[in-house]
Amino acid sequence: MSVDVQAGSDVASRRASCRRTGIDKPSMAPDPFDQFRSWHEEWTTTDPPDAAAVVLATVDRSGHPSARLVDLAYVDHGFVFFTDRRSRKASGLRAGSRAALCFGWLTLARQVRVTGSVAALSDDESDAWHSKLPRQMQLLTWASDQREVIPARAVATRRLVEAEMRFCDGPVTRPPHWGGYRVVADEVEFWQGRADELHDRLRYTRGAAGERWVIDRITP
Ligand SMILES: Cc1cc2nc3c(=O)[nH]c(=O)nc-3n(C[C@H](O)[C@H](O)[C@H](O)COP(=O)(O)O)c2cc1C
Repeated sequence: MSVDVQAGSDVASRRASCRRTGIDKPSMAPDPFDQFRSWHEEWTTTDPPDAAAVVLATVDRSGHPSARLVDLAYVDHGFVFFTDRRSRKASGLRAGSRAALCFGWLTLARQVRVTGSVAALSDDESDAWHSKLPRQMQLLTWASDQREVIPARAVATRRLVEAEMRFCDGPVTRPPHWGGYRVVADEVEFWQGRADELHDRLRYTRGAAGERWVIDRITP
């Protein structure tokens, strides 16, 4: 049986109510990271339930694609997130591989797509982020490999209790299998929905880090 996902929701007119004025090259920052910061700031002022979530798409060695939400940790010269290095996604995040991120900021009728090469963060960088996590999340980095099939939730609970016992009241260090990745963007696309359906897409590209960004308009 099919699922009529648009039934009764009047998707088109609800979306139209979110649309705003368009974007053009002169209104965009020369550097996509500055443009991202400006849009992300606007997004957070809309008080979204989750301002960090982003879809991460990867492809493993066999060419199998997979996508999932992760929390964007921060943006420096790339887009940084943290995960378990034994997870399925990690097999698509090998050094030299490529990955894509997609932010959907729907109440602003905006999408930002990032494509780039993947680099693992250093131990120091991963330690720094891990040390700032709430304790329960630190313990989870020891208790779950994000891969194992388990017969019941009780198994995951037991792993967490074992991690708690391991560290007692002491600080929870970062496990070697957990760390960060940076997507070093060479393409960033900003999509702005417009009331007349002729939406705006502006894409930044550059050949290599350090080169000048070129902005192109793409058909919607
Ligand atoms: C809102 C949201 C944020 C998430 N953030 C993270 C994250 O930062 N890191 C992470 O490893 N998993 C995160 N997850 C869980 C992933 O979506 C995913 O289930 C898990 O990482 C296993 O993915 P994989 O099997 O593709 O490796 C998040 C899930 C949701 C719904």
